[in-house]
Amino acid sequence: MQEIEMADRIEELRKLFRQEIARITTPEELEKLRIKYLGRKGLLIEIFKTISSLPAEQRPKAGELANRVRNDAFSEWNKKKKEIELKKEEVKEEKEAIDITLPGKKFSLGKKHPITLILDEIKNIFVSLGFCIVDGPEVETEYYNFEALNMDLHHPARDMWSTLYIKEGVLLRTHTSPVQIRVMEKQSPPLAIIAPGKCYRRDAVDASHSPMFHQVEGLLVDEGVSFAHLKGVLTHFCHRMFGAETKVRFRPSFFPFTEPSVEVDIQCVICAGKGCSVCKQSGWLEILGAGMVNPRVFEFVKYDTKKYTGFAFGMGVERIAMLRYGIDDMRLFFENDRRFLKQF
Ligand code: DAH
Repeated sequence: MQEIEMADRIEELRKLFRQEIARITTPEELEKLRIKYLGRKGLLIEIFKTISSLPAEQRPKAGELANRVRNDAFSEWNKKKKEIELKKEEVKEEKEAIDITLPGKKFSLGKKHPITLILDEIKNIFVSLGFCIVDGPEVETEYYNFEALNMDLHHPARDMWSTLYIKEGVLLRTHTSPVQIRVMEKQSPPLAIIAPGKCYRRDAVDASHSPMFHQVEGLLVDEGVSFAHLKGVLTHFCHRMFGAETKVRFRPSFFPFTEPSVEVDIQCVICAGKGCSVCKQSGWLEILGAGMVNPRVFEFVKYDTKKYTGFAFGMGVERIAMLRYGIDDMRLFFENDRRFLKQF
């Protein structure tokens, strides 16, 4: 091959290379191009072998040209590579870009459940009177749930509560009263506590029953505690919970762990005592059970029954919440329908 022809050939390769590289848009095509022209057997590399067959005096010039073209090709190739990478980056950025003018995702914040709201109110009232809040286990032994509360194995009151057993002698507590025993075992009088929490019974679900519900237990023990203290504290509670005008009534009743025992009614909040379907035409609504602690209970916890007296009470939280909010179906509390819950 002659020098001129060689130069033409090199120039032609440069032209072809430039035409091809101009059209390239992907890394894969770019790599193919590198192999075709600049790889070990590439067109711009092979040319050097041809140069070595030229007459000696022609080689330097041709070599110089081939070198230049090859180096140019290398740098063009590198430039293109950077361009493609940059483009890729840009596309990625565009895809990931945050449009700060778009409205944000609404994060819906929950609210306190109505039962929790009422529990908070009950706790506040009693804490302001000097009561402490204590906790007890939901899985209880028969001893705490029944025996130490003066309900022995054959006590008829156990019938409706002897349910939901975990194993022999261990059950889901049917009321919060066992916490009384647990507290008295550990503390000596004077004491004033409330014990809020969940309770479980075999009840089928209906508008006023649920197998899981909440109670708040109360217990006050000291020297010289009388029924007048019980009446005073519980009347105060009713007035703060349902309004200062609310009439309160104490009705004789029976609980094995209190003697005497009462049931406390408030005047019907729906009909103001006139009689309606909610109060079954009586004008009164029962809201809690209470009484003077039975000395038999004190004996179980080794309190001096000559020195100490006390009163106890237990209230159903769902019932109080229903009366406070005018809700006629207990099931609403447990269905977790947000349309219901967001009203409180
Ligand atoms: N434990 C009773 C129940 O679940 C409620 C109760 C009544 C609790 C009288 C008391 C009380 O502490 O003195 O029905």
